[in-house]
Amino acid sequence: MVSRVIPVDPFDLVIFGGTGDLARRKILPGLFRRFCSGQMSSESKIIGAARGVHTAEEFSKIVASAIHEFGSSDAIDESVLAEFLTRLDYVAVDARGDTGWTELAGKIRKNLVNAFYFSVGPSLFGDLAERLKRFEMADDDSRIVVEKPFGRDLATAKALNASLAKHFDETQIYRIDHYLGKETVQNLMAVRFGNMLFEPLWNSQYIDHIQITVAETVGVGGRGEYYDRSGAMRDMVQNHLMQLLCLIAMEPPAKFEPDAVRDEKLKVIRALEPVLPHHIVRGQYGPSEDDDDFRTHVEDSSSKTESFIAMKMAISNWRWAGTPFYLRTGKRLKARTSEITVVFKDAPHSIFGADAGRHNNELRIRLQPNEGMTLDVTIKEPGPGGMRLVDVPLDMAFADALGDNAIDAPDAYERLIMDVIRGNQTLFMRGDEVEAAWAWTDPIIEGWQARGEVPKTYDSGSEGPTDAMAMIARDGRIWREIKR
Ligand code: BG6
Repeated sequence: MVSRVIPVDPFDLVIFGGTGDLARRKILPGLFRRFCSGQMSSESKIIGAARGVHTAEEFSKIVASAIHEFGSSDAIDESVLAEFLTRLDYVAVDARGDTGWTELAGKIRKNLVNAFYFSVGPSLFGDLAERLKRFEMADDDSRIVVEKPFGRDLATAKALNASLAKHFDETQIYRIDHYLGKETVQNLMAVRFGNMLFEPLWNSQYIDHIQITVAETVGVGGRGEYYDRSGAMRDMVQNHLMQLLCLIAMEPPAKFEPDAVRDEKLKVIRALEPVLPHHIVRGQYGPSEDDDDFRTHVEDSSSKTESFIAMKMAISNWRWAGTPFYLRTGKRLKARTSEITVVFKDAPHSIFGADAGRHNNELRIRLQPNEGMTLDVTIKEPGPGGMRLVDVPLDMAFADALGDNAIDAPDAYERLIMDVIRGNQTLFMRGDEVEAAWAWTDPIIEGWQARGEVPKTYDSGSEGPTDAMAMIARDGRIWREIKR
């Protein structure tokens, strides 16, 4: 199978924070990959904009070294890289002053697609939007791209939305949640709505419960200051896990179109029940052989911030009433894996008698690594000795089934940036969606603060605090083992 690359229209993309960490790690290497694939034309231009004063040549050097450091593992074709670097330019701008803005405006070609990536802290979003308007770079067709964290609670998210809405229409605002750009996350929709097999069973009548696990082996490392202000709830649950939950739980949208999909996701968030305190376990990792504990990475040595969270959630609607969703995410866990497990109910009556044991089907969707799907099916255990049942996996690794197409798939940022240029908002969060997610999150965080709750310590390299196992065990269920 040969990958289909559909080139996007020529564009001018300005990256505010163009020399920052995200730009160097993800955005610029991603754009280079799209250039190599032929999706970004050589007419397009990328303009770095940041406070530091650099010439275009200096910026090119920064980008070249970022691509060597963070780009693809394939050997880099230096002649293609040299060609890509000719597409770069740089302007020093002051987000809170007027320096550099006229020069930047002079570089934008109005006849092309214009996009502005705010790869900076949210405190600058309003200033950038205002200056883009004032210096006449924002017309009806231009787009802005903003990164998480989109606020730290409902009030700040509303204020951010309002500051952008003063200058840009919602159809021009692309709020990135990079999980939505992951190939297999989109596959959730393909699996659910492209097959007749699953959807009739996709409800509380047939599904016992659903588990969503996003486990990481990394700790907070150099991001201690940011992370201590966020914790797993704000950093992962309010956005990435919430998006996974929406895609698994939403009703079929009429079309795969931005507002149709986002309307359905919003309904899921609005149908979430408040979470009871004993349905949440927070954890903080202790030391490991190779590294220190959480508290040595943050300034506050008595920090109560969680690096792990497990919770039981309920969606109050016809489809899901009675089916709990168990979510779990954490740093420094046993393995890096993101997985959704759909556990079907037992057959209503076993014709095989008690000796055959009880069996049920399980559908596991692995998002990363080794993307794929496994369906546990119950069969007869081979051999003599009567009817004993055993579960066997129908296992499909997407890389085996799809060959190079699975391996060459663009990474999340590449895909999302190309969608910005195409003007397709399907995989971006709408303002009301973000606000609804905060409205659900806020009371949980406020509850912890009011009760002065301290997270449980868990061992680095473990599956999280034992309280998380106890929480699900109280319902007569167990977590799926965290393993690669
Ligand atoms: C980011 C979080 O949004 O997602 C990080 O801020 C986290 O803390 C990362 O490590 C996980 O992303 P991925 O793509 O590695 O699963």
